[in-house]
Amino acid sequence: MRTKLIFGNWKMNKLTSEAREFALQSVEFKKYADEHGVQIGVAPTFTSLSVVKEVNPSLTVAAQNCHFEEKGAFTGEISIPMLLDLHIDWVIIGHSERRTYFGETNETCNKKIKALFAHDMTPIYCCGETLEQFENGLTKEVIKEQINVGLADLYKEHVKNMVIAYEPIWSIGTGKNASKEIAQDICSYIRDLVKEMYGDASETVRILYGGSVKPENVRAYLSEKDVDGALVGGASLKVDSFKQLIENIVD
Ligand code: 13P
Repeated sequence: MRTKLIFGNWKMNKLTSEAREFALQSVEFKKYADEHGVQIGVAPTFTSLSVVKEVNPSLTVAAQNCHFEEKGAFTGEISIPMLLDLHIDWVIIGHSERRTYFGETNETCNKKIKALFAHDMTPIYCCGETLEQFENGLTKEVIKEQINVGLADLYKEHVKNMVIAYEPIWSIGTGKNASKEIAQDICSYIRDLVKEMYGDASETVRILYGGSVKPENVRAYLSEKDVDGALVGGASLKVDSFKQLIENIVD
């Protein structure tokens, strides 16, 4: 049984005071999520990582990026030891906004994932196609490359516990959702690709859908066999809608 996972990606939002307020209020709904067997987490900006972790240490907290080198002349970057220093052991890797605006490639994602596993950390590896690729029927080809290269040469024991997020770029922040059938089809395709590469690690790896997930549609996605949770942007920013995401998926 794969534990359901609802993860909020805050992107470049929230001052530390706002992140603290959210973390304070999350104490209560984290308990509710635990009682119902749902794991929840958030990915704040670097500046708010420690405040969220300190205020609610039981919340899973992820960074939105990291560098694969331990230290050195990489102005503006944050290393894995720096994250561990803040007790942060989850990181989102290869979000489409990082691929589009900051030159992230499948190869750099692979280096980052290897570096994270070397420190026993958990990556949430994002993949997904552009609108043009979707319209040209290239989705599976793109996803295959992202998975084959991004997850190359890893240990099965590590892959088993990682998280992958399918986020079609055309559905991010657009209000234009992929249907639950598309989400299921691609999440199941990703699981098959992981199976080809790492055998039964595919049974425990958790695969999330992301892209305009809201309290009103989250249940439909999670009712699909291969969708183990959601990576949520806009609807994760307000405490009330984050709470509703959890309430709407429990029985
Ligand atoms: P939205 O939920 O705002 O569409 O963002 C999705 C996303 O990019 C999560 O990583």
